[in-house]
Amino acid sequence: MSVNKILVTGGAGFIGSNFINYLLANRDDVFVVNLDKLTYAGNLENLKPSENKKNYVFVKGDITNNELVDYVFNKYEIKYVINFAAESHVDRSILGSEVFYRTNVIGTNVLLEASRRYEIEKFIQVSTDEVYGSLGPEGLFTENSPLSPNSPYSSSKASADLMALAFFHTFGLPVVITRCSNNYGQYQFPEKLIPLMIINSLNNKKLPVYGDGLNVRDWIYVLDHNRAVETVLEKGKPGGIYNIGASREMRNIDIVKLILKKLNKPESLIEFVKDRPGHDRRYAIDSTKIKNELGWKPVYVFEDAISETIDWYIKNKVWWERIISGNYKEYYKTLYENR
Ligand code: NAD
Ligand code: DAU
Repeated sequence: MSVNKILVTGGAGFIGSNFINYLLANRDDVFVVNLDKLTYAGNLENLKPSENKKNYVFVKGDITNNELVDYVFNKYEIKYVINFAAESHVDRSILGSEVFYRTNVIGTNVLLEASRRYEIEKFIQVSTDEVYGSLGPEGLFTENSPLSPNSPYSSSKASADLMALAFFHTFGLPVVITRCSNNYGQYQFPEKLIPLMIINSLNNKKLPVYGDGLNVRDWIYVLDHNRAVETVLEKGKPGGIYNIGASREMRNIDIVKLILKKLNKPESLIEFVKDRPGHDRRYAIDSTKIKNELGWKPVYVFEDAISETIDWYIKNKVWWERIISGNYKEYYKTLYENR
């Protein structure tokens, strides 16, 4: 790829900020425009390593805002789009779904329409394995698995996937979809399982495990996901869908116990609480296609990367204390009190 203008949406969130920091640390042939609304999940502190780079600019704004999106495409001569922007948390989508459909569906539509108008080179829709629904004890999701989303969040992501594919088939827009499994790593907002359990453990607070704790997620280190998105940016086939995962299935209860052990905290902190409504039992992803067709494979070892992640939260108390002392308190109360 020669010097290219990339619009990264949602670049102040967990995966987007890791992606921008990763990309700008590794190459100088790109110019990144980060368009982010800075919702509760967006945090410019995540972008400290990139903020002073000459080939980086931040624009605060909403992807549902047609005029603003048009202005950004025009002003920065955007050639590539990577759409990370989303409402991303399943539990919040159960508390209130409207903003999920607005951002994840309408917002994606605004970006796709602008991409058509400006005839961009590639549009990456960052999707999720949750669009496939839930697995039983056996089997893996492949790109041919039927879409069967179960939560407002996953149904909004599946809707966006279908819309993006329709823009490929109808208008020839060079859209590529990635579907990744559960990420962990630095800068993850502490509403998600791993950072929430680390922070509660550090604060000697109860660890709320939903249901029987035997739901399974397939974990990937965020930097492996970032590397995969970079690979898809360079080599992904228009109209293609690529699953991304690191084949690391874990039961929730085992993740929680591992965190307690690493932090030298007692298992008595674990509290089994009422299950998440519609809770998907198991996710597990087959990434054969991206490995064989594009040559990507995960390089981080779970045991090392989870230890690094825990260490990062130990060392970056200031980062998460600011978060948990704000509106997060209200959210936590609403979701967990009397559960
Ligand atoms: P996140 O919630 O940490 O970050 C989302 C970012 O999007 C935030 O910076 C937020 O301010 C921004 N945003 C939200 N609404 C916006 C809007 N209307 N306009 C502009 N910006 C807006 O999410 P994440 O975990 O980093 O996930 C990023 C993407 O990856 C999402 O599309 C998600 O569906 C997908 N994904 C996440 C995972 C995971 O494990 N976290 C796995 C697979 C796919
Ligand atoms: O699979 C990819 C998806 O992974 C992404 O598309 C989503 O954006 C991301 O949020 C994540 O969704 P999950 O619902 O799998 O992640 P979460 O961290 O919310 O929960 C992981 C598991 O842990 C799930 O089975 C629910 C359980 N859990 C979660 C929380 C927050 C608990 O038992 N207790 C909790 O307090």
